[in-house]
Amino acid sequence: MILKFPNNFIFGTAISAFQTEMGSSKESVSENSDWYKWVHDENNIKDGIVSGDLPENGDGFWDLYREDISNAKYMGNNSIRLSIDWARIFPENIEDIYANIKYEGKNIVGVTLPKNSLKEMLFSSNQEAIEHYKEIFKFIKDSGLLLFLTLYHWPLPLWLHDPIKCHDNIETCEKKGWLDDKTIIEFGKYAYFISYVFSKYVDIWETINEPDVIASQGYFFGNLFGFLPGVIDINKAFKVEKNLALAHNISFKNIKKFNKTKEVGIGIAPQYFEPIKNDKDTSNFVKFVKYLNNEWFLNAANFGLFDNNLDIIFDEKIENMVPPDFIGIDYYQRVKIGYKGLPDVPYIFNIDLLPCEDCTDFMWDIYPPGLRYVSNELFEKYHRPLYILENGIADAKDLKRSRFLIDHLIELKKTIEEDKIPVKGYYHWSLIDNYEWARGFSMRFGLYSVDYNTKKRQPTKAVEIYKKICNGEEIDDQYR
Ligand code: BGC
Repeated sequence: MILKFPNNFIFGTAISAFQTEMGSSKESVSENSDWYKWVHDENNIKDGIVSGDLPENGDGFWDLYREDISNAKYMGNNSIRLSIDWARIFPENIEDIYANIKYEGKNIVGVTLPKNSLKEMLFSSNQEAIEHYKEIFKFIKDSGLLLFLTLYHWPLPLWLHDPIKCHDNIETCEKKGWLDDKTIIEFGKYAYFISYVFSKYVDIWETINEPDVIASQGYFFGNLFGFLPGVIDINKAFKVEKNLALAHNISFKNIKKFNKTKEVGIGIAPQYFEPIKNDKDTSNFVKFVKYLNNEWFLNAANFGLFDNNLDIIFDEKIENMVPPDFIGIDYYQRVKIGYKGLPDVPYIFNIDLLPCEDCTDFMWDIYPPGLRYVSNELFEKYHRPLYILENGIADAKDLKRSRFLIDHLIELKKTIEEDKIPVKGYYHWSLIDNYEWARGFSMRFGLYSVDYNTKKRQPTKAVEIYKKICNGEEIDDQYR
C-alpha cells in the first residue's frame, strides 16, 4: 500500500517546551512556572493529584535537540512543531512595563507595545534563553525543516498564577492566571515581543495550544485529571475560555505585525463524541457536550460570537476578532457518551462516559474515522484550512502505534482526496516520549522512546513506517 499525500503536504512531529526541555543540565531546568510548582507540590503528590515524577528528570531536549531534530529529519519530516516556555523568557514580573490597550466595551481586543516598552522587555528578558532558542531554531532551519512554533503550550509564569493558592481558594487567591484579565494583557505583550524576536526563524505560528483543555480540565473537572488549578466551576471554566479567546485574538494580530505573510492559527482538541443510545435526550445531550468542547471556542475566535451563559444562544458579538489563518486539530480519541437524566443535578453533570473499546495506555478509545469526521465538521462550520497538529498514542509496549499511525493517515488521505477538505499538514504527537503533565513519565507517546536515566533515544517500530509514508514509499500491510 502507498499512502501518497499531496506534494506540498507537511509531515512533522510535535513536542512542547515543558514536556521535553528539562533533564540534561542545570540550564535546562525552568523553575518559574505554575506547572513546575504544581507538580512539585507535596500535597498534590501525597493526594495523588500529580504523579510525583519531576520534569527536571525529563528528555533534556534543551541540550539534546540536535539528536532529536536529526531524528525528525531522518523520518523524512519536513517540519517540526515545538513551543516556547514563557516563564523561561520572563522569569520575573514585568507588569510594570507599559502597553497600549484597546477595549471594545469591557473586552480587551488589542495590546501593543510602544518602542520604549519593547526595549524594556528586551532588557528584562532572559537573554541566554533567547539565544539558546535561536540556536535550536537555526539548527531546525539548517536541517531543512519548517519551524512551526506554538507561542503558548500551557505553563504560565508564577508571577501571573499561583496554582496552589488558587487550588486552595480560587476566590481569595491573588494571582489568578487566565481568570484574570491582566493575563490577557501580559500575553499580548509576550506575543508582541516573541514575534519581534523570533519572526526570522518561524514559518508557521500557533498562538495557544488547546485553550479548550486549559479551561475544561483546569476549571471544570477539579482534581480528576490533575490539571491546575483543579477547580470545579463551569462558569469560571468559560470565563477562562473567553479570556483565552481574547488572548488568542490579540496575539494573532501581534504576531502578524512582524510576520505579515506567514500563517497564524489556533489549535483545539476536538473529540469524536458518539451517543450510546438513539433517543432524543441522549442525542441532544451529546450535541451540547460537542458544542461546549468542539465549537464554543471556535465560535468566539472565528466569528467573535460568545455564549457567556452556555445556553447555546450567542449573547455577545465582539467586532474586533479576526478569524485565524488555520484551525489546528489535536485529535486523539472517540468518547462514547450517555445521558443520566438526573433531574436534580446541573445538566452537564448528567454525563455518563463509557470505557474504551480499543484502548491506549491512557484508556483512550482508538477510532481513526473520528479524525475524518471532526475535520469535515470543523471545515464545514468555520471554513478555515486545517492542520492536524497532534495525533498520537500512549503505548509503552509499542504494540499499537504502527497501526494507529497508518489507520489515521488512511482516514486523513480520504479527508483530503474524497471529501476535498484542505488539510495542509499532519504532526504526530510525539517525536519523543515526554512529560505527560500530571501523569508524569508513565504515558509513552514518543515515536522515539526515551530512557530517562541514560537519556538514550530508541526508535519504535512506527519510525520506519512514518519514514516510508513521508517519503511516499510503499508500506507493508502486515503492520496493521
Ligand atoms: C497536549 C499534549 C499532551 C497530549 C497527550 C494534548 O492535549 O497538547 O501536551 O501531551 O495531548 O495527552
